[in-house]
Amino acid sequence: MREIRLSGSEGGGAKPIASPYPYPGSVPTIFVAANVNLHRARPWHRFDFSHNLDNDRAISRQVIMERTKNTIQVNCIVNDEAKTFDAHPMARLLDVLREQLQLTGTKEGCGEGECGACSVLLDRQIVNSCLVPIGQINGAQITTIEGVASGDQLHAVQQAFIDCGGAQCGICTPGMVLAAVDLLERNPNPTETDIRNGLAGNLCRCTGYMKIFESVVRACKTK
Ligand code: FES
Ligand code: FES
Repeated sequence: MREIRLSGSEGGGAKPIASPYPYPGSVPTIFVAANVNLHRARPWHRFDFSHNLDNDRAISRQVIMERTKNTIQVNCIVNDEAKTFDAHPMARLLDVLREQLQLTGTKEGCGEGECGACSVLLDRQIVNSCLVPIGQINGAQITTIEGVASGDQLHAVQQAFIDCGGAQCGICTPGMVLAAVDLLERNPNPTETDIRNGLAGNLCRCTGYMKIFESVVRACKTK
């Protein structure tokens, strides 16, 4: 079997988009980018206060959120359930899922759009939830890892990850599973290259990727 090489910089996605900057007073790049291509929010869609690369940046996001304390009411569907909550428009979808909705299956790895650990489906397209401001999701449909199984029945991808040992520490696993689910929904019969490209935005530090790759191949056969 050929070696798979996965990196955060491969795969499709929108090109950099010129956008007025910084907030407030203009539309941050992420809003524009998310409208144009939600398939995968990529690193070039970053804006300074959306991630926690270092203390300064984390503080910067916090300061901006505190400066404009107004929250907005958000209505959306999460895992087929209607949700209404208040949040700062610049709060990250990742934080709202984990802290307000207690959906802790979605993980934070890098916090800057590189690793895919925070992947969720937003209107049936995979996104890195650490890059999506909550102001973007009013009326949207979100699927997290908690919504992938049907009751007690695991999704074929989840079962294949168990059968093939595709998970070790598990930090990357929710994002990997959602990336594979997204791939199989868009392309039920992917080639090996399609699988590599479909998982290209998701990094794993444990498995060496082959077992993950084999899990997706198994899921294609058993779905
Ligand atoms: S935590 Fe979102 S891409 Fe790494
Ligand atoms: S299983 Fe540990 S990072 Fe992938």
